[in-house]
Amino acid sequence: MINVAILGYGVVGSGVYKVITENNDVVSKNVGDEIKVSRVLDLREFPGDPAEEVLTHDYDDILNDDSIDIVVEVMGGLEPANTFVRKAIEKGKSVCTSNKALVAAFGTEILDLARAKGVNFLFEASVGGGIPVLRAINESLTADHFDKIYGILNGTTNYILTKMSEEGLSFDTVLKDAQERGYAERNPEADIEGYDACRKIAILTSLVYGRFTDYEEISTEGITKITNNDMIFAKAAEMEIKLFGLTEKNEKGFYSMVAPFLVGKEDPLYAVNGVYNAVNLHGDMLEDVMFYGQGAGSLPTASAVVGDVVELAKNKGKVLPFGWTADKITLSDINEYETAFFVRVNSGDAASFKNSFENVKMIEAPEITGEVAFITEKMSRNVLDARLRDIEPLQVIRVN
Ligand code: HSE
Repeated sequence: MINVAILGYGVVGSGVYKVITENNDVVSKNVGDEIKVSRVLDLREFPGDPAEEVLTHDYDDILNDDSIDIVVEVMGGLEPANTFVRKAIEKGKSVCTSNKALVAAFGTEILDLARAKGVNFLFEASVGGGIPVLRAINESLTADHFDKIYGILNGTTNYILTKMSEEGLSFDTVLKDAQERGYAERNPEADIEGYDACRKIAILTSLVYGRFTDYEEISTEGITKITNNDMIFAKAAEMEIKLFGLTEKNEKGFYSMVAPFLVGKEDPLYAVNGVYNAVNLHGDMLEDVMFYGQGAGSLPTASAVVGDVVELAKNKGKVLPFGWTADKITLSDINEYETAFFVRVNSGDAASFKNSFENVKMIEAPEITGEVAFITEKMSRNVLDARLRDIEPLQVIRVN
């Protein structure tokens, strides 16, 4: 029997309880031993809930219970999650979490602590919700050098961009609708400003390269400045606008960013719509591989968390080769990163724009008057800004 404690009985925590109890046949079979939720920690009461019997308000009940091998942290936020996770590891318990804020901020230290204590710290559900991308990176994508990772890592923003594109609605209108449907938080800043995606691309980058990537050094831009006219021009060019977390390592530098990108039909992420997430990796042998699935939601996320529980249970007493070292990646200035650019300008600036840029591809959108839009050749943002000189563009978006 393997006993599991769940810290936090919210959306994900109650999902983890449900997956372990309702799918106990398959979960226990995959471990080769019975898995049981023996404790749930939450400050609240849950009268009539199946977890009521194992509920505690006191973390010491879990810490001091030597029969509990695995602690599932699904409280979210940095504290007390950080303290609770470290205390569990100090006590020789393995931990898994869905908490990307915790992993991005303290993952390096917690991984070190777990190794020192001979236990494991896993966090599959912290990136891409139910998509099993971290384990695939760690266990399957082991024969390549990866030069590019990019993904739609946030369901809320992808839902908003999809709705804007499909229904011609403004950002504010769609955000309100997303909030009403529960797809966006009442305070949506972490999603719409790209902070959530930033932590996820930091975790992905750290894992792929085996070295710490500091999320605070990743240039992060959200989707709040995307307008209907951007969408109309993008559609006219047979492209979509997606919020990417992207890392590229090439001969010029090591770049990482969160930013809106225009993507064409040939891009595997073009058709990733609504609350779905996807991660694409490019390796020197494998070429492109894409992972696609539900990036949020109680049961998809819980399924990934329980996948970690199974992994931890199967490897009791063994330190898994997972994670990264404290050796930090030095990121290059993203203004030197070269892509094509989508640029919208007032019609009055069009002639001047054409004089400064060779080989621009004009986008024809007859329904828009007073503005024109172009796609430039591949260049850095610094070169673009120098060429724009006196022109104040209405919009600049990278093209993948
Ligand atoms: N707010 C996040 C999203 C939840 O929309 O993707 C999952 O991390």
